[in-house]
Formats: sequence, C-alpha cells, structure tokens
Amino acid sequence: MCIQDKHITSRNHLGRERIKKLLSLQDPEEIDTLCRKAFEVKKQNTGNKVYLRGLLELSNICRKNCYYCGICRTNIHLNRYTLNEKEVLDTALFAYENNFGSLVMQSGERFDKVFIQFVDSLLQKIHKKTNNSLGITLSLGEQSEETYKRWFESGAERYLLRIETSNEQLYYKLHPRDKTHSFSDRIAALKNLRKTGYQTGTGIMIGLPFQTIENLADDLLFMRDLDIHMVGMGPYVEHAETPLFKYRSLIPSKEERFYLSLKMISTLRLLMPDINIASTTALETLSPNGRLIALQAGANVFMPNLTPAQYCEDYFLYDGKPGIHTDVMSYLKDFDKKLKENGQEIGWGEKGNSRRAERV
Ligand code: 5AD
Repeated sequence: MCIQDKHITSRNHLGRERIKKLLSLQDPEEIDTLCRKAFEVKKQNTGNKVYLRGLLELSNICRKNCYYCGICRTNIHLNRYTLNEKEVLDTALFAYENNFGSLVMQSGERFDKVFIQFVDSLLQKIHKKTNNSLGITLSLGEQSEETYKRWFESGAERYLLRIETSNEQLYYKLHPRDKTHSFSDRIAALKNLRKTGYQTGTGIMIGLPFQTIENLADDLLFMRDLDIHMVGMGPYVEHAETPLFKYRSLIPSKEERFYLSLKMISTLRLLMPDINIASTTALETLSPNGRLIALQAGANVFMPNLTPAQYCEDYFLYDGKPGIHTDVMSYLKDFDKKLKENGQEIGWGEKGNSRRAERV
C-alpha cells in the first residue's frame, strides 16, 4: 500500500479500516512517515514537553491470577513485598526535590482494608511533604467506587487501569473466567473512575497470543469511544513462570512486536491528538532505545522507575524487564539531551495534566 501523507492527516478519516491499514504497514519508510506525522500532531496538540512520572512499585502482592503477569498470585518464585511508609515518602520527596512534577504508585491488585487505608494515608502525607505540588497517579487495579472516591478526595488526581484487551473473548483467554477477573467489572471500574473525576487512563498489551490486527484497531476505537484522557500501552513480553508462556510460539517476533507497538502509539496519537500517551517500559525490553523512539512517534510521557533498588527483582512482570538506574538523575540529564536533538525536552517540575482532561 502506498501511504501518502494526506491519508494519515485527518483523524476524521480514521475509521476502523484505515486504522487496520496503518497497523498493518510493513514498509519501514511508510512506518517512518506515520511516526513523523504522529510526532507533529503531538507537538501541535500537547507541546514539545515530555512529562515525567516517577514510578513507584508499591507492592507486588496480588489477589489476581492474570495468565501473562509475572506477579500473578500463583507465581511462587518471588518474594512478596510492600514498601513501608518511609520508603514511599522518601521516594516522593526525591521526585519532588528533583522536579519530576508527578509520581505514579503502582501495585498488584489488593482489596484489603489495610492496603486501602495505607494508600489513603500515603496520599495525604505525600501531599503534605511536597506542598501539594506533586501530581499523583494511582495504578492499583479494580477497586470499589467508594475506594476510588476516598483516594480521589485524599489527592489522587489520575488513575490508570488497563483494560489489557477490549475484546471479551481474548480477555478470557488471558484471565481466568471467574468473579475476580470479570471483563464487565473492569469496564465498569473504568467508568467509575471517570465519574469520580479522575483523569482516567487505560491501556492494552500488544502482540499477545491470539490477538489480531482487528482486535488492536478495536482497542484504539475503544479508547476513543470512552474518551479516555491518558494511555499506557506496550508490547506483551512473555514470562517463563506464567501460564501464557506455553503459547509463546504464537506471538510475533520481538521486532514485529516493537514496530506494532510504535504503530499503535502513532495511530492513537492521530486518533486522540490531545491525550497523554506513555512511552512504556516494556518497549525498552524489545529495543535498546525503545522508549526514546516512542517519544519520537507520538508518546509524550516518560516514567523512570524510582522503586528502591532492592525490590526491583521482585516486581518482575515479564522477562527482561529493565532494572533501576543507580543514578537516575544523570540518566535523565542525558536523556533530556537526546530529546533536545529532536526538538523536545523534559518538562521539569510540570504536573503534565492531560490536555484532553483539561478541555472537557
Ligand atoms: N508483558 C507486558 N506487559 C505486562 N503486564 C503484565 N504482564 C505483562 C507482560 N507479560 C502489564 C499489564 C499490567 C501492567 C501492570 O503490566 O498490562 O496492567
């Protein structure tokens, strides 16, 4: 297929068929044109700043058993941990003092009262220590509407809950078919988050066994139809201690998954020009400069991992997950230089709200 610029400029023309075509591009030059276009659209709509979110992996205890995930309940080959209050507050202070602008707290899915209360008190203490100036995103899975409200009132502004796939059949190939893994509950949770007032994010995995280009096109349309404010999506990376590993012969090569992820990010940028799109960690597992490349292809959010290094090995979602930088600040200064070569830069000290959320 010959892809001319006019074919990819107008998002009004991005229907399912055109999206499928963009996701199916194979010619490197055509993929490059798509990425460049997405980069332009990003700069026009969200500016040239790349927003930082310091990532804190709060706990790897999980009540769920998602077939792809390294911290699923049945994996006994890791130590389960929960950070203590001091570790969290020290990290939040580090993010504040080093002008990150915002923090993401992520963990396995836990519904126990102790955890809900712990998060609540952390939110209040973080805000107190950082003069209410740090944007806080939670990524703590499905919770009751009451819990979402409680955390929102304690100062969490954003919430990321990946749908993982918007196709119900595929969803149940990736999750047990039971009460704790209900597809409709997950969608309801996303709607509750929006209703509560969060800047709401979702995302999916790309290159899963059994996943088709149609599924991926529908995932993008799902995000558009939900009018989501932010997206974190990345390639599926197999993990030897998970049930899905046995289907690894069905997944595309590393290179294909990487380019498919880039095409997804670029196409999403054309479809939803003013949302925040994260350049996710899993991209780096498939390509050494994966996250930088995605920031040149439509993504505008970067999430350096700030989890205390001794826990890094236990938050092992997939094989080859990158470790923690021992000197994250010099890494970021260097990263900023590389961004500048490309006409963008880190938005130091900025919360980096989703423009989409500010507009509605
Ligand atoms: N490959 C890629 N992403 C994964 N996640 C979990 N397991 C994997 C995997 N094997 C992602 C899921 C989850 C997030 C915390 O990490 O999308 O929502």
